[in-house]
Amino acid sequence: MKYQKLFEHYNLSGNQIKNRFLMAPMTRSRASQPGDIPNVLMAEYYAQRSTAGIIITEATQVSLQGKGYAKTPGIYTQGQIEGWKLITKAVHENGSKIFLQLWHVGRVSSSKVNGLQPIGPSAITAQNTSVYIFDGSSDGDATFVPVEEPREMNKADIEIVINEFTEGAKNAIAAGFDGVEIHGANGYLIDQFLRSNSNVRTDEYGGRKENRIRLLIEISRAVANTIGKEKTGIRLSPFISFKDMNDPEILETIMLAAEQLNKLDVAYIHLCEADWDDAPQIPSDFRFKLRDTFKNTIIATGNKTAEEAEKLLQEDLVDLTGFGRHFLTNPDYPARVKHNSILNEISDSHTLFGGGTAIGYTDYPFMK
Ligand SMILES: Cc1cc2nc3c(=O)[nH]c(=O)nc-3n(C[C@H](O)[C@H](O)[C@H](O)COP(=O)(O)O)c2cc1C
Repeated sequence: MKYQKLFEHYNLSGNQIKNRFLMAPMTRSRASQPGDIPNVLMAEYYAQRSTAGIIITEATQVSLQGKGYAKTPGIYTQGQIEGWKLITKAVHENGSKIFLQLWHVGRVSSSKVNGLQPIGPSAITAQNTSVYIFDGSSDGDATFVPVEEPREMNKADIEIVINEFTEGAKNAIAAGFDGVEIHGANGYLIDQFLRSNSNVRTDEYGGRKENRIRLLIEISRAVANTIGKEKTGIRLSPFISFKDMNDPEILETIMLAAEQLNKLDVAYIHLCEADWDDAPQIPSDFRFKLRDTFKNTIIATGNKTAEEAEKLLQEDLVDLTGFGRHFLTNPDYPARVKHNSILNEISDSHTLFGGGTAIGYTDYPFMK
C-alpha cells in the first residue's frame, strides 16, 4: 500500500491509536456564551473528525486571564468540564483518542476580550499582533483589535499560572480526555518566556536559555506529576517568527528544553512547523538532533501532504503526523488519502473563527 505507515497502529505511551493521522489543534471560536462552554455543535464537529487516530483539541484557556480571543472554550469551570464530556464521549465512541490543548495567551490579549490587562514575562507589547472580539461592528464577523501592553508577571503570578495549568489538566481528565497538550508554541505565554526578545527578565525566569525554559519545564513537571507523564504532551514551534517572536536563539533553546522534557519522560513533543504563510522547510539535522535528544513520541504538523507525512514516518524522523486544514475541510481525510480522492478546500475564511454557526464548521461534506 502507498501509505503503509500512515495507516499503521501506534502506541502513544500506552494509548492505542488506530492510525498515524493526528488532527492538529485548531481554534474555531464556537464555545457557548456566556461562560466559554463547549457544546453539542462542537461535539458533532469533533465526532466527524474522529477518523483521525488522535485529535488535539483547539487551544483551551486555563483561566479568564489566559484567554485572548472571543468564544474560545475554557477548562476551569464545572460548566466547561460538563461541556467537554460531550466531546470526549463522542470521539471515544468512534474509537479515536483525544487530548485537550491547555492554553494561556500571556501578552496576546486585550482587555476588550476578557476585561483584564494582559500579563507576560516582560512589559513588552507584541508588535503587529491583534486578537478578535465579536462586537457587532463587523457585520457578524470578528473585529480585530491590537493587543495591549502586558504587565510583567511577578513570582506570585507565575505560581498562579502553574497552578492553573495543573488544575486545567485535572479538569481535562475529569472531562474524559486521554491526556493534555501544553501549548508552548505560537507566541503564547510559554513561548514568550522561551524567547530572548519577549523575555528580558533578570530573575531566574529570564536571561540565559536555562532560565527561559524554566516556566515550560515547571509547568510540564507539575502537569505530569498531577495526571501522569504518559498523559502529558508539549507543543513547541521552533520555526515561527510571527506575533513578534523572532529570536535568533530559539533553536538552541528548544533543543535544551527537549533535553529537559526527555528527563521528565513526557509522552510527546509536537512540532508546530508552519502556519499560514510562514512555512520554512525544516532542516533535516534539526530532526536528527531532536530524535537523538528526545526518546518518546515526536509529532510534526505543518503544510504536509500525505506523501510528505509518509516519508517522514518511513524515515523514522517522526511517529505521528499532524494535519490541520486537511481535517478542517475533510472530516474523512484518512479515507480520502486511502482512495486518492479530491480534497475539499476552505469554503469561506470568515467561517474559520466563528460566529457560532455550523456553516463552514460541520457542513464540509464526506466523500460520496
Ligand atoms: C483555523 C486554525 C486555527 C488554529 N488554531 C490553533 C490552536 O488553537 N492551537 C495551535 O497550537 N495551533 C493552531 N493552529 C495551527 C495548526 O495546529 C497547524 O499547526 C497549522 O494549521 C499548520 O498545519 P496544516 O498546514 O496541516 O494546516 C491553527 C490553525 C488554523 C488553520
